Amino acid sequence: MNEEIIELKGLTKRYGYGDTESFALKDFNLTIRRGEFIMIMGPSGCGKTTLLNIIGLLDRATDGEYTLNGENVASISTTRRAKIRAKKIGFVFQNFNLIDNLSILENVALPLVYINRPRTVRLQNASDALARFHLQEKEYYHPSQLSGGQQQRAAIARAIVSDPEIILADEPTGNLDSRASNVVMEELKSIHEEGNTIIMVTHNPALTTYATRVINMLDGQIDTDIKTVADHNLPQPIEKRNKKRKRSRRRRNN
Ligand SMILES: Nc1ncnc2c1ncn2[C@@H]1O[C@H](COP(=O)(O)OP(=O)(O)OP(=O)(O)O)[C@@H](O)[C@H]1O
Ligand SMILES: [Mg+2]
Repeated sequence: MNEEIIELKGLTKRYGYGDTESFALKDFNLTIRRGEFIMIMGPSGCGKTTLLNIIGLLDRATDGEYTLNGENVASISTTRRAKIRAKKIGFVFQNFNLIDNLSILENVALPLVYINRPRTVRLQNASDALARFHLQEKEYYHPSQLSGGQQQRAAIARAIVSDPEIILADEPTGNLDSRASNVVMEELKSIHEEGNTIIMVTHNPALTTYATRVINMLDGQIDTDIKTVADHNLPQPIEKRNKKRKRSRRRRNN
């Protein structure tokens, strides 16, 4: 069975003090296994983005524990957080966060700077990622010259370009028509089938057919949590699968 990669225990995010005190997350508990495709739903303001930002190491909880790949990451240094994030996590933001004075190609190549890939490799990988989302003709455009849907697809290409094992996506299909939305979901599906873990926020119940688990949030807590695929049936990471295949081949040959 795939190992647990994310464990959140008693996570709390508080804003303000005294009369203005409010909680975006309240004693939030969640364990995620490698290979899960989780969809998070819930009304506006219930804490979905806050949760993704904390899991993605972009924000810190006020209280509670966060274990990522067995490492307690709740209180590690900002530099270490940035390093882990660059290596392991791809993030699709609710508002894209593309940088307008860079071309689309340079935007998508950016995560590879942080893991020290040479420039030619960066541009080639970025170009391949853009092609997956049918944006190869827009490589040299700037974000403001693209439609909302195209910007969203570019933002997803940027999130997957470094081949991260965890993809966090905040409404990645929110601005897309159904055709473009299908392209994105099929792409996420194939990334998931490679054994990666996806946590995606959506308001569209029709998309939950792609998920292995659907979590409904309410007021900073989990309201319902339903697994539609059993833990032992989650896709395995590719390296493991290859090892297994090699092993059975060896057995056959003996
Ligand atoms: N910087 C901040 N200061 C104070 N309150 C904040 C801050 N950021 C978020 N909040 C509050 O935390 C709560 C959760 O916000 P969050 O953005 O996580 O909601 P959400 O579920 O993603 O909503 P949406 O579906 O509208 O994107 C909200 O009530 C919000 O007002
Ligand atoms: Mg949000």
